[in-house]
Amino acid sequence: MEPLNEELVNRIDRYIQELFTPSDAALVENLKDANAAGLPAINVSPNQGKLLYLLMKIAGARRILEIGTLGGYSTTWLARALSPGGMLITLEREVKHAQVARRNLERAGLGAVVEVRVGPANESLRELIRLGAEPFDAIFIDADKAGYVEYLDLSLELSRPGTIILADNVIRHGLVLDENPPDAADRGARAYNEAIARHPRLESLVLPIVRRRVDGLAISIVR
Ligand code: SAH
Ligand code: DHB
Ligand code: MG
Repeated sequence: MEPLNEELVNRIDRYIQELFTPSDAALVENLKDANAAGLPAINVSPNQGKLLYLLMKIAGARRILEIGTLGGYSTTWLARALSPGGMLITLEREVKHAQVARRNLERAGLGAVVEVRVGPANESLRELIRLGAEPFDAIFIDADKAGYVEYLDLSLELSRPGTIILADNVIRHGLVLDENPPDAADRGARAYNEAIARHPRLESLVLPIVRRRVDGLAISIVR
């Protein structure tokens, strides 16, 4: 990939974080516990968490669906933005990740508004559709990248006009610029970008995001 002044980009990210994204005990403990339990440190960055929080507030989200929980770090940011009476469902394949997340969310005072569902995300999504779940106001896709297009298709069945669909890691340090990336995750992210770009039911953009290196957040709204 092209060289990038990573040092400067990271100083800028830290500058923004120090100004706008003060951490607190629940977020610090969340990452500490996830690390102690051996979970990979692939949560969203603090600034990205704040962005998710702001987007949920702007949307006035009452019902949020997350695909890919890990230790519940992004979940905490999303759930804190719920309007009164709101709820969040988060889908996670790994039992161990779900257990860490439940403990973290409980400690953050979000245990009553967040439900962690364990299983392959596509199965959990199909189950929600089958049971006629009320449409979500916002959906955040952040599980296995190879599954993103399938999660998009299933998410659309759980959406209404105005639903916001977000997806993490869609730039992958520029690896998605390759027309046919060798890695399945990069191929999945690229396919997702192409799917939302041309989808008749979506208006979309990808926002580059600094996370040590450059990644991206896809933002779509359902027509
Ligand atoms: N959203 C989290 C990070 C999620 S990392 C945060 O920013 O804090 C991706 C998570 O998706 C991992 O916990 C992984 O176990 C889970 N995952 C991967 N494949 C999955 C699948 N097919 N179904 C459900 N979860 C999956
Ligand atoms: C990976 C997954 C993520 O959701 C992320 O934000 C960063 C990395 C990964 O699987 O490597
Ligand atoms: Mg991610």
